[in-house]
Amino acid sequence: MRIGVLGTGTMAKALGTGWLRAGHEVTVGGRSRDRAEEVARALGERAGAASPAEAVAGRDAVLLAVGWEGMEPALRSAGAHEGSLAGVPVLDPTNAVEHGTGVLLPGGSAAGRVAELAPGARVVKAFHLFPAAFWERPAEQNSEVTVAVCGDDLDALRTSGRLVADLGATQAVLGPLARARQLEEAAGFLMGLALSGVDPHAAVPSLG
Ligand SMILES: NC(=O)c1ccc[n+]([C@@H]2O[C@H](COP(=O)([O-])OP(=O)(O)OC[C@H]3O[C@@H](n4cnc5c(N)ncnc54)[C@H](OP(=O)(O)O)[C@@H]3O)[C@@H](O)[C@H]2O)c1
Repeated sequence: MRIGVLGTGTMAKALGTGWLRAGHEVTVGGRSRDRAEEVARALGERAGAASPAEAVAGRDAVLLAVGWEGMEPALRSAGAHEGSLAGVPVLDPTNAVEHGTGVLLPGGSAAGRVAELAPGARVVKAFHLFPAAFWERPAEQNSEVTVAVCGDDLDALRTSGRLVADLGATQAVLGPLARARQLEEAAGFLMGLALSGVDPHAAVPSLG
């Protein structure tokens, strides 16, 4: 697949690494072109750097790897408001949380906001629960990992399912994008526990 990545931080690098290893092509676009080039160089031969608009043009999937505050400007710089992401599976791993508490910012879901800002995009909430480091490690180490996702578009969910599988994990579709806030709250809950010094595993019963 030809994957566009908006953002040049930890998630961009980790998921870019995993997907390149699986044989995909990754194009990184950030607000700083120099930083995008630096990240693409670090990712290796099949990675490229581009402007945000070029990074999303003609891609099979786009990852929105920016902090919550960067979501709107990043989408705008990629031309999302003008329909540049229409029809494109857009994977949203963002956590719109207060620093240091895990409390979600008020309002709807971050993924719902992406859908509003990017008319026609096939948004999938995905990859927001696991630390980035999971996606850099060898795929065999992720055989026990389930990535819970939600989204409205079946083709986009197939695309995210393949991209999850390429990282060695398994996708579980929880439902439509209307469930995104619940998935995002789950991440806030885990962060809240971790920040209080509690191992989240100890606070969640095994119901299997
Ligand atoms: N790191 C993790 O383990 C992890 C796990 C799950 C989910 N997430 C979520 O994934 C998202 C990305 O996390 P990350 O760890 O990759 O963050 P990060 O390393 O801090 O990188 C954030 C990226 O957002 C960009 N950005 C920030 N403000 C922007 C703006 N106004 N306009 C354009 N770009 C802007 C930054 O650009 P510059 O480089 O130019 O500053 C940077 O490329 C976050 O929403 C986070 O909650 C992270």
